[in-house]
Amino acid sequence: MRKVWFQVNRRSFIKRSLWSILTVIGAGSGGYYYARNIEPSLLQIKKETIASSKIPSSFDGFKIIQFSDTHIGFHYTIEQLKDLVHQINMQDPDMVVFTGDLIDAPNQYHQYADVHSALLKINANYGKYWIYGNHDHGGYGTEIIKELMQQSQFTLLQNNHAIIEKNVDRIIIAGIDDVILGNPDLNKTLYQTNSDLFTILLAHEPDFAETTRLYPVNIQLSGHSHGGQVRFPFLGHLYTPAYAEKYVQGKYTFDNENEFTLYVNSGIGTTRLPYRFLCNPEFHVYTLKHTV
Ligand SMILES: [Fe+2]
Repeated sequence: MRKVWFQVNRRSFIKRSLWSILTVIGAGSGGYYYARNIEPSLLQIKKETIASSKIPSSFDGFKIIQFSDTHIGFHYTIEQLKDLVHQINMQDPDMVVFTGDLIDAPNQYHQYADVHSALLKINANYGKYWIYGNHDHGGYGTEIIKELMQQSQFTLLQNNHAIIEKNVDRIIIAGIDDVILGNPDLNKTLYQTNSDLFTILLAHEPDFAETTRLYPVNIQLSGHSHGGQVRFPFLGHLYTPAYAEKYVQGKYTFDNENEFTLYVNSGIGTTRLPYRFLCNPEFHVYTLKHTV
């Protein structure tokens, strides 16, 4: 037991030391300028195909866009948001989902009318859905963000689900309340759902996948981690928030009967520190594929 404690602390000590050394080196070079001023605005579009025999044929080619963790107000401007909306619409999505942390500090932010008019312009024929993140509940944001998203024609999934119909086929889009500052309840979320239907769950914190994997869910889409925001070759990320410690970035597959897969989005904005390094802002475009 003592040995494990020593190893964990030794590892975090090494990480902290490296962080300090790199900060000192970076501060004196172009690296700091790049991480502060360049990479945070280099938006990437990540494309993934989700194939399953549970995806009905009517949904073959159905395009879902996920964006997450905009943290508007903390070094993320309305102009950047407008550009993001333009880039999303250029992909011609069928559905758009937002997986939490819209405004960095909701009670200190004032440009809500501009955020509303930008988000309203997102087009998706099969709906726009969102879930709470910890920053949305934090800073007295629960009601403010709820009203803003409602006016922007985003449907809140807070421990509930919606059935999406196309022709005679159906899939399920579900969402849980935030794990850190809300009351997530997956039993309630999936109440009376048909486990034969392909089911996508929105959950802000990726480590919630440890619970989700035990339920009839096929896909979990998460954010929260920011991919670590700052990453280094060989070392990877140096820091992630609680509930994004196990699953940090990209695709994770689980060996269970639902062929459960988790996708962790690295987010759009920044928080705590206004840097991104080897961890571009991104949104995901998922294309569903019917297999036999
Ligand atoms: Fe978060």
